[in-house]
Amino acid sequence: MTALHYTCPLCNLPLVGQEKLYRCENNHSFDRAKENYLNLLPVQFKHSKNPGDNKAMVNARRAFLEQGYYQPLVDKLVVLYHERTVLNASNTSVILDAGCGEGFYTHQHKSDVNTVYGVDIAKEAIKKAAKKYQQCHFSVATLSKLPFAEQQFSWIVSVYAPILEQEFTRVLSAGGYLLTVTPAKQHLMELKQYIYDDAQEHDEEKLPIEHLTLVHQENISYQMVLKTGQDTLNLLAMTPFAFKASNEVIEKLKLINNFTCQADFLIRIYQKEQ
Ligand SMILES: C[S@@+](CC[C@H](N)C(=O)[O-])C[C@H]1O[C@@H](n2cnc3c(N)ncnc32)[C@H](O)[C@@H]1O
Ligand SMILES: [Zn+2]
Repeated sequence: MTALHYTCPLCNLPLVGQEKLYRCENNHSFDRAKENYLNLLPVQFKHSKNPGDNKAMVNARRAFLEQGYYQPLVDKLVVLYHERTVLNASNTSVILDAGCGEGFYTHQHKSDVNTVYGVDIAKEAIKKAAKKYQQCHFSVATLSKLPFAEQQFSWIVSVYAPILEQEFTRVLSAGGYLLTVTPAKQHLMELKQYIYDDAQEHDEEKLPIEHLTLVHQENISYQMVLKTGQDTLNLLAMTPFAFKASNEVIEKLKLINNFTCQADFLIRIYQKEQ
């Protein structure tokens, strides 16, 4: 398989797919793993041995998302994408899920006429994504230096992941879109109240995005009923406040069935100049 859109993270030349590896003209080579993902994170780009989410976090995320609690969100994302899809000269659109985790959102954007890429710095997440969702192209890479040439994507989706405006703008085509999902005010409030004495609302401040134009903004809010204590613990493991939970709180949450908790998402769509 030749991956048309990848570039070498070391010298930026196109990467050409061979049987078990990808190579640029300068002979930098990158292995294709048996799960069919590419590792494009050279060791000198890593700030730690295993950057990004660890295996336990990835497993908790997969288990939680598979229960469908965030399906209303992804359904909305896919509708917004289809409303604005512009096909390129080859009658296709190329999209990127930036910080894709284990691929839950990535694969649901796949259609008959597009090519879908997912990038994450966490190898465990990409391994799981590539194994399950073989119709998408996954790579381990950093969002701060994406392994793609300029203007490759007409759509970038970023769900609860770091937003690197300069890099995203570089790889977006003229008129292309960046969709971001961030927590809105009441997101997981009931869960937070278990952890903090004075649980605060999320800050919805507009992100400091300077070179793209905000063209759409909306909230999605609904009550989730988390069927089992394990579902709640999986959700907790996905949050930045998981490490604040005492063993006592964890034991308590484990025993609660049908825990009601607010999902509150903020969706923003930005557009690059035509
Ligand atoms: C909160 S998770 C969201 C994952 C996925 N979008 C989802 O919602 O299921 C954030 C993801 O960003 C990834 N990440 C963090 N910093 C990154 C970076 N510099 N480059 C690529 N991925 C990064 C993490 O490994 C993690 O998978
Ligand atoms: Zn190279």
